[in-house]
Amino acid sequence: MEPWALALLLLSAARPAACQASPASPPRYSPDWASLDARPLPGWFDAAKVGVFLHWGVFAVPAWGSEWFWWHWRGERRPDYELFVRARFPPGITYADFAPRFTAHDFQPHAWARLFQEAGARYVVLTAKHHEGFTNWGSPVSWNWNSVDTGPHRDLVGELGEALRHRNIHYGLYHSLFEWFHPLYLVDKKNGFKSQHFVLEKTLPELYDLVKRYKPDIIWSDGEWEAPDTYWNSTSFLAWLYNESPVKDTVVVNDRWGINCSCHHGGYYNCQDKYKPGTLPTHKWEMCSSIDRKSWGYRSNMKIDELMSTSSIIEELVNTVSYGGNYLLNIGPTKEGGIAPVFQERLLALGKWLNINGEAIYESKPWRVQKENGTNKTWYTSKEAAVYAIFFTWPQDSVLHLPSPVLTASSQVTMLGFSETLKWQAAPGGGLQVTLPCMVPSLLPLQYAWTLKLVGVK
Ligand SMILES: *[C@@H]1O[C@H](CO)[C@@H](O)[C@H](O)[C@H]1NC(C)=O
Ligand SMILES: *[C@@H]1O[C@H](CO)[C@@H](O)[C@H](O)[C@H]1NC(C)=O
Ligand SMILES: *[C@@H]1O[C@H](CO)[C@@H](O)[C@H](O)[C@H]1NC(C)=O
Ligand SMILES: *[C@@H]1O[C@H](CO)[C@@H](O)[C@H](O)[C@H]1NC(C)=O
Repeated sequence: MEPWALALLLLSAARPAACQASPASPPRYSPDWASLDARPLPGWFDAAKVGVFLHWGVFAVPAWGSEWFWWHWRGERRPDYELFVRARFPPGITYADFAPRFTAHDFQPHAWARLFQEAGARYVVLTAKHHEGFTNWGSPVSWNWNSVDTGPHRDLVGELGEALRHRNIHYGLYHSLFEWFHPLYLVDKKNGFKSQHFVLEKTLPELYDLVKRYKPDIIWSDGEWEAPDTYWNSTSFLAWLYNESPVKDTVVVNDRWGINCSCHHGGYYNCQDKYKPGTLPTHKWEMCSSIDRKSWGYRSNMKIDELMSTSSIIEELVNTVSYGGNYLLNIGPTKEGGIAPVFQERLLALGKWLNINGEAIYESKPWRVQKENGTNKTWYTSKEAAVYAIFFTWPQDSVLHLPSPVLTASSQVTMLGFSETLKWQAAPGGGLQVTLPCMVPSLLPLQYAWTLKLVGVK
């Protein structure tokens, strides 16, 4: 190209918008729920199905009770928390004094990312900021209450994001709208949420900062329940997120954006924690659950019978996916940045199960029947021409009865992890009886639950 041609091109590009023939297209989404709720959910999220949730913050320092430690101790002034602090820490210690002990010395983001990949997670959600207000990145409006100025002296949000991206794992950021003890929040609360000092000076600047810096695939909003979405300015933030942000075409959000939003507005629905719908929901949803049933944050005194077994994790996953949900399984890393071996073991067992049975999970859709009634637990998923029946009890005679599928002479039944097709016949009361592979236990490729793949089924 001649230099003058380039100059002309630049000139025409620099012409103000008003001179151009066609006006700029208006923003697609307006800051109201009717418009925002109509945005189609980016497809990657439904396909991903499995995520790992991380609750990490200063609450990992006391590592006792739960991630709500500060609230139970100083908000509710529960005597058991007072006693715990008196027994373990020097007199007069404050919650802020815990922060320097949040060292993250053992935090190896690439090792974490490898573990989550081996667990079969297609996305990971980290608490960028929990209700304690401590930001795991160097937020300029956090008054040193962040992981760069104190504690780890590291950008935890950024480091983990980079390691996950390296492995093509989607990255979500949990963000609490409210903070228990932030002085500006307390002012607004006292004003019946008629003022917005906290939202304008803390919440919104941090949300915009998180999106621009880290380009998250998910914003997992929480801490919304004391104030309406108009206080949080949720719809104007979401309109910016969907229209203009660097992640406008890929980002997914949940439903916790103000009183009464949960289960009604936003992107996908979380509804309550550990939500389990009884029937097939019409809206995309996610079930979040925690390996430690008693806490989302790390507790140093957890006992094995307080943890989910691998079998119950897989059952919850299968139940969730058969009802069209995603499964987000939580662990709490330690203050040093370690992941307790018992959590590693659970995650790796899940990954091992998914290595063989993932075909029935990832990118699957609910089938016309989600769950077989009766005592033996069997759930269904589907993908293209295949229906998958995932069962948790191996029948004693190795003949599994599935009442719901309708097969034809050309239908084929296989078990994931085995190459040969299985014998089946129509069951007297309807459905089919499948003769499972005759296996000695040590030859079974895995435990917990098995998947039959039915092709040519109604
Ligand atoms: C939330 O819903 C309840 C019940 O429908 C209603 O009484 C209340 O006014 C709503 N609150 C807000 C902030 O919209
Ligand atoms: C908050 O919302 C109001 C009303 O939608 C809007 O006028 C204002 O610009 C928003 N402020 C910020 C900082 O987003
Ligand atoms: C299971 O039972 C429920 C309640 O009776 C019924 O609505 C549903 O259709 C049954 N499902 C199957 C697969 O038979
Ligand atoms: C349920 O499991 C029992 C015990 O393994 C078995 O005898 C029975 O046939 C199973 N029932 C169905 C409906 O598969």
